[in-house]
Amino acid sequence: MPARPGERKPLISGNWKMHHTHLDAIAVVQKLAYSLLPADYERAEVSVHPAFTALRSVQTLLDADDVPIALGAQDVFYEDSGAFTGEVSPVMLAKLNVSYVIVGHSERRQHFGESDEVVNKKLLAVLRHKMRPILCVGETLDEREAGVTETKVLGQLEADLQGVSPEAMASLVIAYEPIWAIGTGRTASPADAEAVCKAVRTWLAEHYGAGVATGTRVQYGGSVTPDNIAELMAEDDIDGALVGGASLDAERFAQIARLGQPAK
Ligand code: PGA
Repeated sequence: MPARPGERKPLISGNWKMHHTHLDAIAVVQKLAYSLLPADYERAEVSVHPAFTALRSVQTLLDADDVPIALGAQDVFYEDSGAFTGEVSPVMLAKLNVSYVIVGHSERRQHFGESDEVVNKKLLAVLRHKMRPILCVGETLDEREAGVTETKVLGQLEADLQGVSPEAMASLVIAYEPIWAIGTGRTASPADAEAVCKAVRTWLAEHYGAGVATGTRVQYGGSVTPDNIAELMAEDDIDGALVGGASLDAERFAQIARLGQPAK
């Protein structure tokens, strides 16, 4: 695979959503750690995003065995502390050595009514605590069919990145996730995914300059599997994947983390 411009190392992230107890999570990470070899980590960075209840267990395991898998969270609240029953603060995540935090996943926007304003506050909170946001953007099927995919995605970027400095952009990852492709088995074609990821990069160049545009990783997400990862990664502007269903099984996720290369 040719080196990407700006040395963008692909990031393969496993979003486990509301699956896996802490015991299941430990078992999956143990298998992953066993399957992935140094050459795999050289090709791509790997992160896992367990439920909040499993973060501490997974962190302990990764630390104890020096496993080079980054710990990620699926969400966060934007206040540091206070009377917010049921929420988890960025301070708590930072203390667990969480590196990446998904913000604005379409399931949060759809099922929990998260507005761009809330997503923006969460993103700024993640940055304030020196963690790295994975900002999710993407269109519905209706929006795609109406031909407004780019308007939607670029509008989300505009709203969600309010107040983010060019320096802070260095730690940001963007995940383009067409909503109609999430959990449906219907992946965007590599060409369609590439077109939107390229539009995201052009937007970044216009708003933050060429350096930020070249350096920012843009993942694709939506029914990524071991069978389609290689063709997605062959596109110039796709720098990894945010993987849901296929990340729950260690062997399938390891195959994706190898970017479709055979296990050695
Ligand atoms: P999927 O989920 O891989 O199951 O489609 C992707 C995501 O929601 O991040």
